[in-house]
Amino acid sequence: MGSKFGFYLSALLVALFTSSVHAQQKAPAASTFYLDKTETQFSLSLANDSADVYIYFASPAYSWVAVGFGASMENSLMLVMYADARGDNITISPRLSTGHTEPSFSPAIKLDVLNGTGIYDEMYVLRAVCHACRVWPNGFLETSSTTAPMLFAFGPAMAAQSDDANAPLRRHVRYGTFSMDLVAATGAGAGVPEANAQLRGAVVQGMSKDRDGKDLAHAICGCIALFVLWPVNVALAGFLRNIKVHVGVSVVMLAFLVVSFALGIATSAQYNRSQAYRSPHQIAALAALVPSLLMAVLPARSIAALSPRIPKLHMPLTTLAFALLVLSGGLGLRLSLSSTSLVVAYVAVALFVAAFTTSVLLCVRRRGSAYARATTRRRLGEEDEQDLGMARWGVGKKLSGSSSDGSWEGGEVGGPYGHERSTSQGSFVVGRGTMPGPQYLMNMHPGVPVYVNGQK
Ligand SMILES: *[C@@H]1O[C@H](CO)[C@@H](O)[C@H](O)[C@H]1NC(C)=O
Ligand SMILES: *[C@@H]1O[C@H](CO)[C@@H](O)[C@H](O)[C@H]1NC(C)=O
Ligand SMILES: *[C@@H]1O[C@H](CO)[C@@H](O)[C@H](O)[C@H]1NC(C)=O
Repeated sequence: MGSKFGFYLSALLVALFTSSVHAQQKAPAASTFYLDKTETQFSLSLANDSADVYIYFASPAYSWVAVGFGASMENSLMLVMYADARGDNITISPRLSTGHTEPSFSPAIKLDVLNGTGIYDEMYVLRAVCHACRVWPNGFLETSSTTAPMLFAFGPAMAAQSDDANAPLRRHVRYGTFSMDLVAATGAGAGVPEANAQLRGAVVQGMSKDRDGKDLAHAICGCIALFVLWPVNVALAGFLRNIKVHVGVSVVMLAFLVVSFALGIATSAQYNRSQAYRSPHQIAALAALVPSLLMAVLPARSIAALSPRIPKLHMPLTTLAFALLVLSGGLGLRLSLSSTSLVVAYVAVALFVAAFTTSVLLCVRRRGSAYARATTRRRLGEEDEQDLGMARWGVGKKLSGSSSDGSWEGGEVGGPYGHERSTSQGSFVVGRGTMPGPQYLMNMHPGVPVYVNGQK
């Protein structure tokens, strides 16, 4: 009887003992950060007899999620995770940053990913041990702190899959800070912490929405310039007699482009992919500066007068600048990792605007711009009176003065929109003393081209 009782007692004790040992193995010392809103959990367990740091990190599958060891992004060690290329597991990328900019992958920090890592129920789950995570370039884990500063951040909620630990990241949409008790997280028999939907040894300090609108403003200014002001301006130049409106709208458009450029430059330092100005988006944008500047400068009175070819450059430059800027915009969407639907919409709008401006330009090319036709009429009216009697002798001398005032204000007869075949061309020729002859004077329909044999 007594021995039987003794047997049961010892069995009970053994059971208690083993279960407590088991419990100790199953639940190592750990501190846990848990965010209710997103059900994000980040737990740390630090071995007290080695440098091992055990990590459990679980979060909804945004494009990326990250935690960082440090008070701010600068010099923090950040663990960024996102879906791998197949989308059925995660890529974990330890990264460092030199400021509030996109962090760069740091191959020196090695994380051993353990069993139980993957994407489960649309949650990223990381179980890992890091053997050398307590010290990194320009930073260290304050293991003696009960309020070690930590960071967290979420990328936008959209698919972004890559096996590349250096994959480009979109800017975070939400980020925040918390503190963690690393003393409580340290103990013997450290291991991967359990899933645990409860704050323990951690304090959430705050979460903010990202308010940086530079990217968006950059894109919006560029699109207004390119898809609203540009076609309006082409139409105004083609169909309005008053060239000053065209000049005015050009200035406004240029202002939008300048603002867009400035915002782009202000943003470029934020991302690894744009820091060096080597992305196709930036190269196309910088290339577009050349025709854009020429377009702005060449119509100036003094420059346009240098050669009759100069005003004729305006239309090809327009087309070139537009093509480069549209290309740059599309590449910019790629650079900012925009969704495919946005890219498709962009291409559709770009094609529509391109078709519109092309048809306006073709129309203008045939008829001459309203301004040029009006100017031509005016000139012909004057010249007809003055020159009829002089037609036989040295008319060139008389007209040489007027031929040099080809500019915006002073009656640039050729006009910017290519009237290579209009009478206006004659005036330049006249200026150089090769008067086209009687056909010129017989033109009773100003604005309708007159062709002179052997001369353009
Ligand atoms: C994900 O990858 C890790 C290591 O690469 C592996 O241990 C784990 O089993 C994988 N998970 C799934 C669900 O395949
Ligand atoms: C990995 O973990 C799962 C449960 O999370 C378990 O079923 C499986 O046996 C483990 N595999 C190995 C190789 O440990
Ligand atoms: C680790 O912690 C345990 C108790 O949690 C203690 O018994 C042991 O001495 C510690 N080891 C070291 C190296 O400090």
